[in-house]
Amino acid sequence: MLEQLSQLEKESLATLAAVENGDALAEWNKRYLGKKGALTQMLRSVGQLPKEERPAFGQAANEVKMALEAAYETKAEELRLAEMAQELEQGALDVTLPGRPIGPGHLHITTQTLRQIYAIFAQMGFQVYESPDVETDELNFELLNMPPHHPARDMWDTFWVNDQVLLRTHTSPGQIRVMREQYPDPIRVILPGKCYRYEQITARAEHQFYQVEGLAVGHGISMTDLIGTLTEFAHRFYGAEGRIRIRSSYFPFTEPSIEADIDCIICHGEGCRVCKYSGWLEICGAGMVHPVVLENGGYDPEEWSGFAFGLGVERPAMLKYDIDDIRLFYENDLRFLRQF
Ligand code: FA5
Repeated sequence: MLEQLSQLEKESLATLAAVENGDALAEWNKRYLGKKGALTQMLRSVGQLPKEERPAFGQAANEVKMALEAAYETKAEELRLAEMAQELEQGALDVTLPGRPIGPGHLHITTQTLRQIYAIFAQMGFQVYESPDVETDELNFELLNMPPHHPARDMWDTFWVNDQVLLRTHTSPGQIRVMREQYPDPIRVILPGKCYRYEQITARAEHQFYQVEGLAVGHGISMTDLIGTLTEFAHRFYGAEGRIRIRSSYFPFTEPSIEADIDCIICHGEGCRVCKYSGWLEICGAGMVHPVVLENGGYDPEEWSGFAFGLGVERPAMLKYDIDDIRLFYENDLRFLRQF
């Protein structure tokens, strides 16, 4: 048996030396080391030997197996290098070819829309003011006339960081920040930024979205100034055909409060899932700044008045560009993003 083993080793190594390509190597491996290969068969036949010969044979067979496996690896590496050298020689890989250029990107549709909104309000004399995404309960709710346990807090499903800190549910807390910073000057600002709501994602609602808050504080500012500003915005953003509809509403931080809708240019009034089959799409909540909020900002409501609005960004863009699902904005699908 030991004789046969030694014979097999010699024969297999001689055959391996003659192997010239990957197919022949695989065939060799099958023939000697495979499940039904010659060496495997010989290892299986160890049981037929007299007991005292088995350990010596087993050890010798394992050594041969390891030697063949090592020879196989060396050959495989040799063949791989030879193949690579041949490819290089034949010029299959031309390392001097210029790389494929990556085309320039462009601004995301939300950024484009934000910039259009900034430009329109800048023409009306509004400055851009930024306020933080992570807010306190005090600014997001309390100073906006919503003390703890006020039922109106239910209008904004909130991501809480802890009892006192949260991800802002709207850009309105920025109103207090601007007022406290600007007092006693009159104010005309917009506050753009991301808002976060712990709510279900649908075709028209995301849990992260942008708003642009508007705030004007001065002497003798009235509801007509607010409606005029929103109407002018609609005309400049959508063109003269952008019709706006004002409905009365409720917000704890404005009195009176309104909501503004724009007619749905996706379905042209026929009704679709984006406008909830009403023909109109709500674009902002607004109103006259509540006296308590003016006071919290440091302005005496007997002397000062103001208006505020909170405009969505994705929803107005959906109408303008005929997009029927808000989820497309942040899925990062280039087929969508490249269209704008
Ligand atoms: C507010 O957030 C008030 N802070 C607005 C306001 C500001 C009122 C100042 C009075 C004075 P509301 O929850 O309705 O209101 O949101 C305002 C706008 O944000 C909506 O009209 C809509 O365009 C947009 N919006 C609200 N929730 C979502 C959402 N889940 N996904 C996308 N856009 C949203």
